[in-house]
Amino acid sequence: MKKIKLKDKEFGVSLSSEEIQSIIKQLGKRINSDYKGKETPLFISILNGSFMFTADLLKQIDFNCEITFLKLSSYLGTSSTGNVKELIGINEKIQGRHVIVLEDIVDTGITLEQIVHELQKLNPADVRVSTFLFKPEAYKKNIHIDYIGKEIPNDFIIGYGLDYDGLGRNLPDIYTLIP
Ligand code: IMP
Ligand code: MG
Repeated sequence: MKKIKLKDKEFGVSLSSEEIQSIIKQLGKRINSDYKGKETPLFISILNGSFMFTADLLKQIDFNCEITFLKLSSYLGTSSTGNVKELIGINEKIQGRHVIVLEDIVDTGITLEQIVHELQKLNPADVRVSTFLFKPEAYKKNIHIDYIGKEIPNDFIIGYGLDYDGLGRNLPDIYTLIP
């Protein structure tokens, strides 16, 4: 198994870049067919973690769309703090728009719930959620997740945009913490 060390922790590869790309192609197909003919949907990518997923998914999208970025985080080290920082401003008009939130991973769902609630206040036509990864055992919220790339166990992972204390975001594969 390919291994990597970041600071004090060791990680083993758990999802290759080839598997990642094939999952994203499938997600793109579903979104393309659901949004066909809809007026200029707006993708909202949640930074920092979603930057790689966003870039790869958007290349699969075949309808006219816009993309914007939001920043916030509830993580410190390897566990969710439960405290979500405030949303950092959206300038685009949301009212009446078809909005698709893009997340790298949904863990407890705390971040996602806050984002969706804030967006709902701006009266979009609808809000759907697409996450590359989902940890069903960790999920504590009720927000429906429309497009899930892959469900994974409740382990800490890095790579493909996801970090351990700022490191590992550049890795093309995903790695799981070796306890
Ligand atoms: P939640 O609010 O607990 O759902 O956490 C959401 C955010 O925490 C995600 O968008 C990630 O940026 C980060 N996160 C969750 N799980 C992991 C992980 O296993 N590794 C690295 N970051 C994670
Ligand atoms: Mg994130």
